[in-house]
Amino acid sequence: MRKINIFDTTLRDGEQSAGVNLNLHEKLEIAKQLERLNVDIIEAGFPASSEGDFQSVKEITKIIKNCSVTGLARSVKSDIDSAWEALKGGAEPRLHLFLATSPIHMTYKLKQTPDQVISTAVETVKYAAKYFPVIQWSAEDACRSDLSFLVKIIKEVIDAGAKVINIPDTVGYISPKEYGERFKYLFQNVPNIDKVILSAHCHDDLGMAVSNSLSAVENGVLQIEGTINGIGERAGNASLEEVAVALHIRQDYYHAKTRLNLSEIKRTSDLVSKLTGMIIPPNKAIIGKNAFAHESGIHQDGVLKEKTTYEIISPELVGVNSNSMVLGKHSGRHAFRNRIVELGYSLDDQEINRLFKLFKELADKKKEITDEDLITLLVDEKLTD
Ligand code: KIV
Ligand code: ZN
Repeated sequence: MRKINIFDTTLRDGEQSAGVNLNLHEKLEIAKQLERLNVDIIEAGFPASSEGDFQSVKEITKIIKNCSVTGLARSVKSDIDSAWEALKGGAEPRLHLFLATSPIHMTYKLKQTPDQVISTAVETVKYAAKYFPVIQWSAEDACRSDLSFLVKIIKEVIDAGAKVINIPDTVGYISPKEYGERFKYLFQNVPNIDKVILSAHCHDDLGMAVSNSLSAVENGVLQIEGTINGIGERAGNASLEEVAVALHIRQDYYHAKTRLNLSEIKRTSDLVSKLTGMIIPPNKAIIGKNAFAHESGIHQDGVLKEKTTYEIISPELVGVNSNSMVLGKHSGRHAFRNRIVELGYSLDDQEINRLFKLFKELADKKKEITDEDLITLLVDEKLTD
C-alpha cells in the first residue's frame, strides 16, 4: 500500500471562495479540526497577501503539532521573507512557492519569456532554500503548459532545492486520462524526478477534480491537495473527503491509503460549512444530508435486509451516526412498518395495511412524511392504544 500525503488547502485556496472570509479565531478552529482529522499538511494561508493572513499563518504554526504547516508565496523574495517570518517557529517549516508555466500565463500575466521564467524559478527556490527545509514548487497552470517546458523547468527547480513538485490543474481543464498521462510523462522524462514527491492539485471547473486526483494516484503521485467540502476558487477544489474515502473503499483498486481519521470527516465538514457559510448540497457525496438516506421502497427493503445491498460506505466510517429511511411516495411497506415500530407502536398486519394506504395517499401530496405526520395518522385512525 502506498501512503498518500493529504495536503489540505481549505484555509488558503478554500478561503478564496467568493464571499468567504474567515477571521483568526475561525481559522484556528478549522486548523485544530484538520489536525484531529490528521491531514499531513495544512496550508494555513498566503502570508504576504494581507496582515490578517500573515497573523493567521503565524498563530496556526504555533498551535499545530502533528501536521506540517505551510504558507503560499509568489516567486518574489519579499513573499518568501514574509512566509518565513510567519512559519519559522513550526516543527517542519514548509514553503509553497508557485510560478506560472503556461504560454497564456507567461505571456499575458507574467510578461516573461520561458527562459526568464526558468531563471526566476531557480533563483527564488535557491533563495528560499536558505530558510526552509522543505520547499514545494508549483507550476501554476501546469495542465495548459507545454510538456517539454515542464520537464525542463522541473529539472532545474529540483536541482535548486525543491522537495515537492506540484502539477496544478489551475483552471480545472484537464481530463483524468490526460492528467494521468502528464504524470507518467514527467516520471519518465525528468531525469532527477526520483528526488521529489509529485503532487496533484485539481480544480473543479468541469466537475473532474476528484476523478483527476484519483487518476494522479493511479499514476504514481504521492500527495493530493484539496479542500474540505471542495470549497475554493470558482467551482472549487477537489473534495478531500471524497478522495480519502474513495481510496479507502477502493483499496483493492488504488492500493493506496491516507492517514486520515475518517471518522472525523463529518465533524470537519460541518465546521467548515458553518464557519464559511457555504452550504453543502444534500446530494453531495460522503457529507451531504442525503448521502446515507434511502427513499425508495426497493432500496429501503434491501438495506433493511442487508445494508451492503445499497450502501458501499458505512455512515459510521465517516462520523455519521446512522443511515436514514426517508418516508416518501416511493417508500415501501417494510420501511413504513419499521418506523411505526421505532415510534413505539405495535400494529397487526391488517392495521398496517390500512395505515399504509393512508400514508401513500398523503405521500402523493407531500415531499417527505415526518414522524409527526405518522402520529397524526395513527391518532386519526385510533391506533395509538
Ligand atoms: O490552482 C493553483 O494553481 C494554485 C496554486 C497557487 C498552486 O492554487
Ligand atoms: Zn488552486
